Amino acid sequence: MRYDSITEAIGNTPLVRIDPAVHGLRHIDLYAKLEMLNPFGSVKDRPAWHMARPLLAEAAATGRGTVVELSSGNTAKALALLAGMHGLGFKSVTNRMRVPEVKELLLLLGAEIEELPGRSECLDPTDTEDPLTRFHQALSEPGGSYLHTDQYYNPLNVEAHAAGTGPEIVADLDGKAPDWFVACVGTAGSSTGVAKVLRAQDPSVKVLGLVADKSDFIPGIRTIDEVHQVGLFDPGTYDTIEPVTSQEAIDGMLTLIRRCGILSGPTGGAAYHGAVRRLRRVDAGLGGDERRAAVFIVCDRAESYLSYVRARRPELLGAATRAAAPLTSPDDVPPREPVKVVEVAEAREWLGGAESRPLVVDLRGPHAYAALHIEGSVNIVDELFDELLRGGLPFSKSRPVLLACPVGEKSVRYAALLTRMGHPDVRSLAGGIVGWRDAGAPLVHE
Ligand SMILES: Cc1ncc(COP(=O)(O)O)c(C=O)c1O
Repeated sequence: MRYDSITEAIGNTPLVRIDPAVHGLRHIDLYAKLEMLNPFGSVKDRPAWHMARPLLAEAAATGRGTVVELSSGNTAKALALLAGMHGLGFKSVTNRMRVPEVKELLLLLGAEIEELPGRSECLDPTDTEDPLTRFHQALSEPGGSYLHTDQYYNPLNVEAHAAGTGPEIVADLDGKAPDWFVACVGTAGSSTGVAKVLRAQDPSVKVLGLVADKSDFIPGIRTIDEVHQVGLFDPGTYDTIEPVTSQEAIDGMLTLIRRCGILSGPTGGAAYHGAVRRLRRVDAGLGGDERRAAVFIVCDRAESYLSYVRARRPELLGAATRAAAPLTSPDDVPPREPVKVVEVAEAREWLGGAESRPLVVDLRGPHAYAALHIEGSVNIVDELFDELLRGGLPFSKSRPVLLACPVGEKSVRYAALLTRMGHPDVRSLAGGIVGWRDAGAPLVHE
């Protein structure tokens, strides 16, 4: 294979059959579409190139322009490389860079990263208060100087998969569509584009979309609450949408890595886990020599997610075993652990009390904190908090602590963790900083 440009190596990824001894399905051939083997490392190489190509051709003529995208992961990675190849800059705008390795890699690739305060990791266009949404709207206004690829709305995102990923799957299955197609949903570009092609081939194809479980985090995909919010997502694409937890995603990753030699990241693991869970029920209803085929996508590789895995399964990376290890992640605490949750009015009274002087810890990102925070609070972003907790309780037991996060979900879990670790008075702010602001309570900025 000889190429004039690395972009020619995008696509034509392998379809690899998973050994039935691994998944245990008797009547179903399960195949992994290895999008991780694209040259920039992920399923997003195709849409990034498809969306950027027309813009880059124009900009390269003048040598001016910055490609910009709302992405904290794989799209940003591919676009940063493509922009660099064309002598242009790339700017990633996000309200949260949650995976440190990805952030560092983007910086290595020459990307500029702008982190805005925000509520969820994904763009919610209906939330006009969200700075990310406002930035997105500004980018879409005519006459702007940025080359905006607009992955959440750009039909070329879907088209990249309808032109490449889908037809490749059909060709590798000897001209037939699989009975099941399984994909994780981020922008919905890959699942929508592939489903379109497979259903054109055979309208009875079943499509399973996978999302992260409520309040859980699997880098690159939406949660069950976020999935209906935006752009390219059409519920008609999917026969079912099912949640996967981060622990299940890691289990799936481990099976692919340790048993199949496929160096998958968390969303590939989530797709494998979700696929096998659903297909077991299908398999049980098949008999004789009935055969079915199913395909899932392995979106990217494992190496960028070591800190993600470490925070959730320290024992996998050589740390002490889970049973013996101190609790260091809010995911380690059972969801029903009793926690003191305080409403805004109660919290204000508590903070104003002369004697108790609670320490207010704001768990949001630094930009969100800089924009608005509770006076006197300290900012410890949750990843750093995880690190601190690894060394034991980071605060004196004699000072009460109020934890605040964007909407009060994460702080509950950290409050449970700190309580488990022996702190006598940790409380979580109900509704988070958003609830505090909505109640008209005072906030200051730096
Ligand atoms: C790791 C990973 N998996 C899955 C997806 C989902 O792909 P799509 O945006 O096509 O829905 C993404 C998207 O960014 C991703 O980065």
